[in-house]
Amino acid sequence: MSGDTSRGGAATGNERSDRGFDPAARLAERERQSLRRDLTPIADVTARAPIADDPGNAPPVFDGPEQLIFAANDYLGLAGDERVQRAAAETAREVGTGAGASRLVTGDTPAHRALERDLADTKNTERALVFSSGYATNVGVISALGPDVVFSDELNHASIVDGCRQAGAETVVYDHCDPSDLRAEMDERAGATPAGSDESWLVLTDSVFSMDGDVAPLEAICDVVESFGAWLMVDEAHATGLYENGGGAVQRAGLSDRVHVQMGTLSKALGSQGGYVAGSESLVEHLLNTARSFVFSTGLAPPAAGAAREALRIAREDDPHRERLWANVDRLRDGLEAAGYEVWGETQILPVVVGDRDDAMALDDCLRDRDVVAPGIRPPTVPAGTSRVRVAPMATHTEDEIDRCLAAFREAGRELELV
Ligand SMILES: Cc1ncc(COP(=O)(O)O)c(C=O)c1O
Repeated sequence: MSGDTSRGGAATGNERSDRGFDPAARLAERERQSLRRDLTPIADVTARAPIADDPGNAPPVFDGPEQLIFAANDYLGLAGDERVQRAAAETAREVGTGAGASRLVTGDTPAHRALERDLADTKNTERALVFSSGYATNVGVISALGPDVVFSDELNHASIVDGCRQAGAETVVYDHCDPSDLRAEMDERAGATPAGSDESWLVLTDSVFSMDGDVAPLEAICDVVESFGAWLMVDEAHATGLYENGGGAVQRAGLSDRVHVQMGTLSKALGSQGGYVAGSESLVEHLLNTARSFVFSTGLAPPAAGAAREALRIAREDDPHRERLWANVDRLRDGLEAAGYEVWGETQILPVVVGDRDDAMALDDCLRDRDVVAPGIRPPTVPAGTSRVRVAPMATHTEDEIDRCLAAFREAGRELELV
């Protein structure tokens, strides 16, 4: 039995034996479907670190060898950068470890304001606003905009999907990275809209897709969106910090003034935590009044804001980090392809597609046996038949470490007869 139903009192005839939950049975069901996952503690957030088995409620024990981590989104390796760590510590000392309240009460500090000015500058917008996570940003922004209809790429991130659900919007899903299908869907929906309707339409796309490593055709999407008078919101979670002047794919394509809402996260290439939205002054003022995940949540922790600001400064400067990341990406992609693997994408995310889910999980295990951590990804996260190992190099991997990763892939591929 999972719930306590023995509270006494006179029977009314409506009692059932159990109105509680049975998490153990639900877990067993996930196990049966091979979908159960475990936590794997890591000793520190760097390109090489020991990891431990899930210890449950006990402290983790890191008694194994150091692993090469090709699984983190800290693409520039800035979570371990001394300058970024110092900025977090200084902000904690000067401002406090927590914001203490919602930004709308007493949680709005100079650390938030300085970061927001730099983000707006990087994204070429009038203003920016930071949230406590990228997830909270998407859910808060989409629901506060309250579109009547959203058009969403079929591979958009879960936080966009949840934002659409919370907004209660009619959701039209278009084919991945396909502006022609987007146009066809918008055309069809326009045909079904009564003349003179004042419906609001929002088109949503990731810029860099986290599981496929490809980039949305942003310019073509802008053309379609503009021809219907709709708004476009782009999620730059996996692009922020990596392109022009520390901006994202929107800046690389020179489209800052054609994208109505840019969002992103501070938790990936900026090595911190939190999310942001960037756009016009009126958009930001509207969101800080109405986005529930902003209004009813404590402000982003000031040390996270301080760290993100310093990371953004480094990403914007001519720092060697970006250059080293792209050199590592090229070396790894070339080596994996030369070994006979199929590697998708065109960014720092390298999906090594093996097709079968069991093969992907076996490859993940075999790599771990060789002290390389790169996660196997299977349905329902990716479509059936496209299971893969997602490889994410960092700027802080050495050439020797990239070569060790490649050697592990070659050996594991031969052992499993994948290459
Ligand atoms: C495309 C995309 N958007 C939003 C998020 C959420 O960001 P955060 O991790 O800061 O909550 C993620 C995180 O994985 C993401 O991949």
